[in-house]
Amino acid sequence: MTIDATASPSTLPDRTAAPLIHPGWVRVTHWVNAVAMLIMIGSGWQIYDASPLFRFLHFPKQIALGDWLAGALLWHFAAMWLLVINGIIYVALGILTGRFRRKLLPIRLRDVASDFVAALRGRLAHDDLAVYNAVQKLLYLGVLLAGVLIVFSGVSIWKPVQFKWLTAVFGDYDRARYVHFFAMTSIVAFLTIHVALALIVPKSLRAMIFGRADGER
Ligand code: HEM
Repeated sequence: MTIDATASPSTLPDRTAAPLIHPGWVRVTHWVNAVAMLIMIGSGWQIYDASPLFRFLHFPKQIALGDWLAGALLWHFAAMWLLVINGIIYVALGILTGRFRRKLLPIRLRDVASDFVAALRGRLAHDDLAVYNAVQKLLYLGVLLAGVLIVFSGVSIWKPVQFKWLTAVFGDYDRARYVHFFAMTSIVAFLTIHVALALIVPKSLRAMIFGRADGER
C-alpha cells in the first residue's frame, strides 16, 4: 500500500473503524484452551479405550491420541497443566475485568427461549458481535461449568488417595469416572455446535483471531 503524503487525516484509512470485540487476553486464552481441550479429548478417548465404561462404545484409533495407554496418559497429563493454568488466567481475568458480568449475565429464560426459536428459523441477528445472545450466554456459561467439573472430577480420579475428600464429593471413584465422561460428552457436544456456528458466521471467527470483525488488529 502506498501512502499519499498530501492526504489529510480524514482521508487516511480509519483503523479504529471496527471496535475491538475480543481483547488480546481473551483471544490468547481461548486458542490455548482450544488446543489443550483437543489434546485432552483425543488422549482421553485413548485412555477410555483401555477400560471402557460402556460395552457399546469404543473410540477408533484414528481419532484417539497417544497410540496406546501410556502414550495417551503422557499427552493427557501434559495438556492438563496447560488447560488448568490457562483456565485459571481466563476465569480470573473474566471476573476481575467484569467481562463475565457484562457479556454473560444476566440470562433470562424467556430470552433463551425466544433466541432459540429465532436461531432455528435462521432469524438471529449477528450485526453486533460484541453482544452475545441469550443462547450463546447459556452455552458459554454451561461450558465453563463443564470445564470446572471435568477438572475436579479428573483430579479426583487422578489422585483418589491424596484427594479422597474430592472423590467422596462425587460419591466414589467409579461415579467420578462417569462424571468425567459425561462432562467430556457435553464439551464435545458444545464444540460441535460452537465450531459449526463459527464457520456459518465467519466474521465471528475473524474477531476471535484478530480482535475485530474486519480482521484488523
Ligand atoms: C477448536 C475450535 C474452536 C473454534 C473455531 C472456536 C471459535 C470461537 C469463536 C468464533 C468465538 C466467538 C463467538 C462470537 O463472538 O460469537 C468463540 C468464543 C468462545 N469459545 Fe470458542 N472456539 C473453539 C474452541 C473452543 C473450546 C474448546 C471452548 C471450550 C471448551 C470454547 C469456548 C468458548 C467460549 C467460552 C467463548 C466466549 C469467550 C468470551 O467471550 O469470553 N471454544 N469461540
